[in-house]
Amino acid sequence: MNIPIKNICCIGAGYVGGPTMTMMASKCPDLIFHVVDINKKRIESWNNKDLSKLPIFEPGLEELIAKTRNKNLFFSTNIKEAIESSEIIFISVNTPTKNKGLGAGKLSDLKYVEACAREVARYSKGYTIVVEKSTLPVRTAEVIKNILNSSESNSKREEISFDVLSNPEFLAEGTAIKDLDSPDRVLIGGDNKKAMIALSDIYKAWVPEEKILFTNIWSSELAKLTSNAFLAQRISSINSISAICEVTGADVREVSRAIGKDTRIGSKFLDSGPGFGGSCFKKDILNLVYLAEYFDLHDVASFWEGVVNINNWHQRRIAEIVIRKLFGTITGKKIIVLGFAFKANTNDTRESAAIRICQDLIEEGADLIIHDPKVSPDQIEKDLKIKQISETNTNPDSLLKSQIGQWKFSKNIDIFDDAHAILVLTEWEEYKHIEWQKASKKMVKPSWVFDSRSIVNAEEVIKSGLKLWRLGDGSKTKK
Ligand code: NAD
Ligand code: UDX
Repeated sequence: MNIPIKNICCIGAGYVGGPTMTMMASKCPDLIFHVVDINKKRIESWNNKDLSKLPIFEPGLEELIAKTRNKNLFFSTNIKEAIESSEIIFISVNTPTKNKGLGAGKLSDLKYVEACAREVARYSKGYTIVVEKSTLPVRTAEVIKNILNSSESNSKREEISFDVLSNPEFLAEGTAIKDLDSPDRVLIGGDNKKAMIALSDIYKAWVPEEKILFTNIWSSELAKLTSNAFLAQRISSINSISAICEVTGADVREVSRAIGKDTRIGSKFLDSGPGFGGSCFKKDILNLVYLAEYFDLHDVASFWEGVVNINNWHQRRIAEIVIRKLFGTITGKKIIVLGFAFKANTNDTRESAAIRICQDLIEEGADLIIHDPKVSPDQIEKDLKIKQISETNTNPDSLLKSQIGQWKFSKNIDIFDDAHAILVLTEWEEYKHIEWQKASKKMVKPSWVFDSRSIVNAEEVIKSGLKLWRLGDGSKTKK
């Protein structure tokens, strides 16, 4: 007999929990979805009548929220009530890299996942399916099972029981709605077939059955880490080749196109850029590194660590190129930074290459004007850990004392007056349509355009008298 499902809870209303439950609610109008979070402000934003004030920006999300919110999709901080009433509970909380203690710098911190498991043990009633939606180190399901069956809940043990499933999420930010609507696969790991079928029945409302894969729970957890590690590995590979292109006269776009035509390699994830960012790639690879080290597989660990090392080196390399091209000094020079998000179509800045690159440029003394259509100046301030220069006090003591540069946010993109250089870090559509003739007239000569995303119109830039450096372009780069 099938397990009857009516109420579903998701703990964690973030970049994954919010869009995932919204998609499920839109596809399963007969089920009720409760998305809960300890962050009151975040929940208030999810409930904001003004849909442009949702806590995350994702193309297509506003329309789906309008269709489902307060019908069969509810955002709240009432975790207890949501757990009590639900037959399936997704855990979709953050799993950042630990910054101290055992495994610091590599292993994911499971304190939020553990807190969720304890809440579920405390409040759940009857039989509950607990689903790992967060990306977790392999064998975390065992930890969750132990907590769920812990002594704390002994008194209730006879009335309650659990199954734990792994159902990792593969959405990418910026395309989350499209990815959720039409996933390449849905992975369900577990050891109770009935529970796995109950979860897959939800997805079957819109995902073709052949795309729903059943595996054992450890394969599912490991497949998620491996998937991200493989994708990130491609980016580090092509970024390493971009450096070779620059010194040999080859062009990394041509190299990518040529190798991507090989059907065994494929064309995706071969765009050279400023280095991969986002909350997942680095964290998940480091988990894999930790796992390999734990099992004494040191060569395996150093292979994967190399992917992260190349990414760090590559980000530093870009700042160094800017400094070198600007005659070895950028002190007091105005540099326009276009884009701060880790990729286009998201307001997320976690691990964005822009953070490291901007910090390096400021440390070298540059005056940065930073533009991003979706990232707020407050967020940039948090990430850079340097206060934005105020309008009234352009020389705060702190900056003078430390002899570093400064930064200011601009909402407007027409900010080229007296600039020595423009540095494109995120591939936002509007940067593709800059009028280079106009920009060039306002800039100090000689002035540079550094394009780390290969999105500007190279011919127009050069025609307007600007010098162009494109990542991995040994053919057009002016040495
Ligand atoms: P996020 O930081 O955006 O959201 C996590 C939310 O969980 C936060 O709002 C936080 O307040 C809440 N939370 C933490 N502890 C809680 C608790 N005890 N009770 C209730 N709420 C709690 O994180 P995210 O980007 O949505 O990622 C969630 C997980 O999904 C991570 O494991 C991540 O690796 C994985 N993942 C992320 C992406 C992505 O693109 N962001 C894609 C696939 C998988
Ligand atoms: C990634 C995975 O793609 C997704 O499956 C997983 O669920 C979460 O992690 P995300 O980090 O949101 O998604 O975005 P993604 O499109 O993978 O980009 C990650 C980083 O790689 C970005 O900084 C992006 O600019 C960069 N990138 C991507 C490149 O530099 N070149 C490429 O060809 C592709």
